[in-house]
Amino acid sequence: MPSFIFHQLFERESSTYTYLLGDEASKEAVLIDPVLETVGRDLKLLKELGLKLKYIIETHVHADHITGAAELRAQTGAKTVVSAAAKIPCVDIALKDGAELKFGAHVLKARATPGHTNTCMSYLIEDMAFTGDTLLIRGTGRTDFQSGCPETLYKSITETLFALPAQTRIYPAHDYSGLQHSSVGEEMEHNPRVKVGMTKEAFVELMNGLKLAYPKKIAVAVPANQACGIVKKPDGDLLDFDI
Ligand SMILES: [Fe+2]
Repeated sequence: MPSFIFHQLFERESSTYTYLLGDEASKEAVLIDPVLETVGRDLKLLKELGLKLKYIIETHVHADHITGAAELRAQTGAKTVVSAAAKIPCVDIALKDGAELKFGAHVLKARATPGHTNTCMSYLIEDMAFTGDTLLIRGTGRTDFQSGCPETLYKSITETLFALPAQTRIYPAHDYSGLQHSSVGEEMEHNPRVKVGMTKEAFVELMNGLKLAYPKKIAVAVPANQACGIVKKPDGDLLDFDI
């Protein structure tokens, strides 16, 4: 069990996991990968638990949903956090590999794990790793847009994430089959794309042959997420969202 308050939250439309981590004593909290449609739920939970949101953290610039970052920042004053590689002007903290984010007595450590996108960061704390779309449960993020690169993804998974202790628990940004978490050891043994024995060449061939349809929201989500989650109509006006 983690030594901090921990909630794994789910958004159904995009099958996204949002994670709430909070420090019991200071009441400081962080959210990883909040989704615009579930900001109301997240704010209610923060209030019920008496937590003060300090950081709103993205694992990467998402293509499948719009981040709740702008709305959460407006409502709480928390700072938004994205990889420096995203070059997003509206973000409060642009992270580099090895950066640390403190909430109360706890520290989240950022590790650059590019490959799904060039903005992917994983976050490590205690025996947990929040891996975004870099490493999914029995899968990986795709590599065919947003500066994706299968060679880079293979390196991030096998050299950075698989170098963590085998019992490290993996908490991904999505799961489409109801699984909630895994571990480094489980993925090294059972992940069909990157388990031990899968060569880089086999991985690259597999990823380049996936031929997936683009995410439904990509045309709206990527520009919105590059603006911290502020959604604009074609005429430049802001869209109103009921949250
Ligand atoms: Fe993604």
